Amino acid sequence: MRNIKGTTKVCAIIGNPVEHSISPVLHNTLADICGIDLAYVPFLVEADNIESAIKGAYSLNIFGMNVTVPHKSSVINALADIDPLAKSIGAVNTLVRAEGGYKGYNTDILGLKRELDEADISLFGNEIIILGAGGAARAIAFLCASEKASRIHILNRTVEKAQNIAFAVNEHFGTDTADALSIADYKRLTGNSYICIQTTSVGLYPHLDEAPVEDMDFYDRIKAGVDIIYNPTETKFMKLLKASSGTGFDGGAKKAYNGLKMLLYQGISAFELWNNLSVSSEQAAVVYEAMKREMGLGD
Ligand code: ATR
Repeated sequence: MRNIKGTTKVCAIIGNPVEHSISPVLHNTLADICGIDLAYVPFLVEADNIESAIKGAYSLNIFGMNVTVPHKSSVINALADIDPLAKSIGAVNTLVRAEGGYKGYNTDILGLKRELDEADISLFGNEIIILGAGGAARAIAFLCASEKASRIHILNRTVEKAQNIAFAVNEHFGTDTADALSIADYKRLTGNSYICIQTTSVGLYPHLDEAPVEDMDFYDRIKAGVDIIYNPTETKFMKLLKASSGTGFDGGAKKAYNGLKMLLYQGISAFELWNNLSVSSEQAAVVYEAMKREMGLGD
């Protein structure tokens, strides 16, 4: 049982639904192992109430917040300030208390960046394929451009959505780095050393035997990949990539990662922003195990 006192700082996640969020376990574990007097709770907020919820949270001296589906874009109107990259992405998942209101950040992409760094996968100078064109794909495309990837190919079933993201990225960065393709036209990608980030919902539990592209020739051209899905812990996309021919990023075996570390590090990055500290890799490992236990997931 946590020892909640008059001094305890309160952080929260707002979303709809929030019942299945792993964030309370993530942040309360972090508070425990970092020795911070902080409690983290979920608040269910309806779309119509987002502005009053943010105002109320500020009045209640809520120390920091996470924002999840479906409020990541609409919350922007209720902020006092916003980080420039989060603004260009158009999505915020972390609010930091500031003068007169909250400042919004996007730690989802910081989470992916940290997962890639840990795996020694550099976006800089590399050709990236993003599968999907939802909110996650948009944030990831901006990350790839800000890290100066040499090309960003966005592939989606509905090509217009991929075109919208490519246009927004190119306009924001003043480049023509990003382009869009229908996922059905993947054969037009003829390179052989892509990094691929899978953001569609294809392959999500219980659809274990589905991948957005099934053709092995596609996977032969990819040297490393991340699937932002974490349930199952190994998606069909990851299996196909590992089974494909060719070598990986470092000339060794091909590696494919799931989205669990991205989830871990988006939380850690938020916790670091709120508390102005650095979480060590040993502390991160403890939180990672607690998350996996709570979610009933293996390695
Ligand atoms: P998020 O915000 O998490 O990225 P989303 O906005 O719901 O999620 O986006 C889901 C993505 O999965 C979209 O790119 C969607 O493709 P469409 O834009 O064409 O709908 C993709 N997706 C979902 N089911 C799919 C399927 N059966 N085949 C291919 N892509 C699919």
